[in-house]
Amino acid sequence: MRKKVAILISGRGSNMMALAEAARDPDCAYEVAIVASDKPDAPGLVWAQQNGIATFALSPKGIGKAAYEAALDAALHEAEAEVIALAGYMRLLSDDFVARWRGRIVNIHPSLLPKYKGLDTHQRAIDAGDAIAGCSVHIVTEELDGGAVLGQVAVPIEPGDTAESLAARVLIEEHRLYPKVLSTFVRR
Ligand code: GRF
Repeated sequence: MRKKVAILISGRGSNMMALAEAARDPDCAYEVAIVASDKPDAPGLVWAQQNGIATFALSPKGIGKAAYEAALDAALHEAEAEVIALAGYMRLLSDDFVARWRGRIVNIHPSLLPKYKGLDTHQRAIDAGDAIAGCSVHIVTEELDGGAVLGQVAVPIEPGDTAESLAARVLIEEHRLYPKVLSTFVRR
């Protein structure tokens, strides 16, 4: 039985697409049960719909975080999701939500954790004079970008790299790493 995964996005959703594409392989250990977003106009939602994936979209604006998360939680259960994969989901999940899904939420982060938690990871790596950047897939806990690392890929920082040029090379690796790590994770 393939594990049913819910993917949460806020934007373009390129990692979500990579996860969904990989799930077309019958050997992939997960299937995408639903793509959910806090941004009803997230471009990734359209792609998911066009590809026959169930979607859920709700903005917390006006209803508050608790009501938003309760509706999200209900939608994920309705879709029978067993694992949540955050993919460019730009909102912090509440401690309560994380506790309800303890050990079953993963995220992709564009740095070699524990370095550069939070935002602007590529610029911070360049400013620090680092020779390598990269990306990490980790378990989501109450601490921002703080849970156990499940897999990482290093990407060399080239002379003259900008945050944009580095981000583009790291993103290619994100798309390779995330499906591999998620498939392994759901098997255990
Ligand atoms: C990626 O860089 C990911 O590492 C970070 O947010 C970005 C999302 O990009 N968490 P996309 O929406 O998957 O294209």
